[in-house]
Amino acid sequence: MMHFISVQDLKVQEILAIFRRTDTLKKKPIQPLLKDKNLAMVFQKPSTRTRVSFEVAMNHLGGHALYLNSHDLQMGRGETIADTARVLSRYADAIMARVFSHKDVVELAARSGVPVINGLSDLLHPCQALSDMYTIHEKLGRLRGLKLAYTGNARNNVTHSLCHACSKLGMNMSVTCPPKHAPDKAVLRDSMANAKATRTVLEVTPDPKKALKGADIVYTDTWFSMGNRPSRIEENALKPYQLNSSLLRHAKRGALVMHCLPAHRGQEITDDVMDGPQSIVWDQAGNRLHVQKGLLSLLV
Ligand code: CP
Repeated sequence: MMHFISVQDLKVQEILAIFRRTDTLKKKPIQPLLKDKNLAMVFQKPSTRTRVSFEVAMNHLGGHALYLNSHDLQMGRGETIADTARVLSRYADAIMARVFSHKDVVELAARSGVPVINGLSDLLHPCQALSDMYTIHEKLGRLRGLKLAYTGNARNNVTHSLCHACSKLGMNMSVTCPPKHAPDKAVLRDSMANAKATRTVLEVTPDPKKALKGADIVYTDTWFSMGNRPSRIEENALKPYQLNSSLLRHAKRGALVMHCLPAHRGQEITDDVMDGPQSIVWDQAGNRLHVQKGLLSLLV
């Protein structure tokens, strides 16, 4: 594993190795495994969890993280991604990048001499999905055979990386959304191939009750990612997919509720569900730090 651009690029053994390392680091958080190493963090978009968890992770591991807003770099004045990658890899030991276009993080990795981590692109959010799988395993003691239902706008980076992760790790996944908001076709094709190999089910259905039936975990995310304002028509189409207490009743009794955050309370999820006894969203967010440490310590 040279870079971490997509969960789809990882072998199951590599994912499990990250989880084992994460367990160790969660028990003993301060270990100088990356003493004097530097992580360059390029952000084209805002972030709370990704930025802070990577920065604290590097501190805990004895290294240092540099926050580089793309507007403050020469990228903002037209220096190419490729040239930026060539230069940053002369200074830093690894690069983490949050970009608008997925092809930018692919290009960054192609031109970088040091490991590149995808901190979110328009297509994928692999760090989130990796951490979510760790959290589910921590809460339920296994992954294989569980069912995750995703409800809401499924044409987004988090759903795509969850499709890769669930199908690879032997979890069933049911995605429920309006047809216009279905996951990317290429992501589904790769995930369906994974699901065939792991003998699991990956389905997309417009029927939220059917999707939630028997679900161990119910997951949702914002209907519209950064900068995209929903039209009234789109918002109305997504309303039946809101994660509220009446929809949650269709999942298994006590099913876990997950959201990658930030949440738009009252839109994709209601307050009573987000703050209710089945919600694990804060533990989920907290684990971003620990899993990032597991990933960094093995990759760098
Ligand atoms: N979930 C997530 O990536 O959060 P941020 O956008 O705050 O980093």
